Amino acid sequence: MYFIANWKMYGGLNSLNSLHKVNKFLKTFRKKKVVKIIYCPPSTLIRPMSKKLKNLNIEVGAQNCHEQQTYGPFTGSINSIMLKSVGAKYVIIGHSENRQNGETDKLINLKIKSALKAGLKVIFCIGETIKQKRKKITKQVLNKQIKLGLYKIKKNNKILIAYEPVWSIGTGLIPKSNELYDTINFIKKKIRNFKIIYGGSVNPKNIHELKSINNIDGFLIGGASQDPKKFIDIIKKTYN
Ligand code: PGA
Repeated sequence: MYFIANWKMYGGLNSLNSLHKVNKFLKTFRKKKVVKIIYCPPSTLIRPMSKKLKNLNIEVGAQNCHEQQTYGPFTGSINSIMLKSVGAKYVIIGHSENRQNGETDKLINLKIKSALKAGLKVIFCIGETIKQKRKKITKQVLNKQIKLGLYKIKKNNKILIAYEPVWSIGTGLIPKSNELYDTINFIKKKIRNFKIIYGGSVNPKNIHELKSINNIDGFLIGGASQDPKKFIDIIKKTYN
């Protein structure tokens, strides 16, 4: 099971102390062999975090990358090679917070290609808005995001799909269990052999419900991942 922490635009150097607690927990955790923990901090923390996590069973990822691999005049941007060079092993691409800022499926596709080429693994986010859900077009939306996002990308084990309903991110709301099972199943049938994780308001309170949905390969955790206690709790409860 994957447990991916998405810190978004939170965290400074002092937040790295929380890793210590997670690592300590992991050392004695009976399921440590089947747990994969990845931290995606802001880019400013990738280097210090990866140094801290050296030789530990926690990996580091970035939250986005530019689509171009070479250097260029793109103020504020960082490309996949630069991320790799400071210790990132993964990168989140297509997060709805970036889609809402104008990232198109086509651009996301270029970013995924660039990241894979640089040797990064990709956490590819898809999900419907509340409007689309109400219109009952969730499957069409996901279908399009998958088709265009993965255009001309061969099947491979370097891509994880994160299903994150937009209306669930940061709201405390999660999909009904049967609906979530059905949607994950739909994605799995659409693109076989990909790991599918769920993201959107995962917390220690709803993890019991979420873990009982047995076709999910892990969780992408935003808000709750900034608190090491909550993050550890989520992992523990997944196996209880
Ligand atoms: P959340 O965020 O857990 O705070 O809802 C999840 C995400 O945006 O990846």
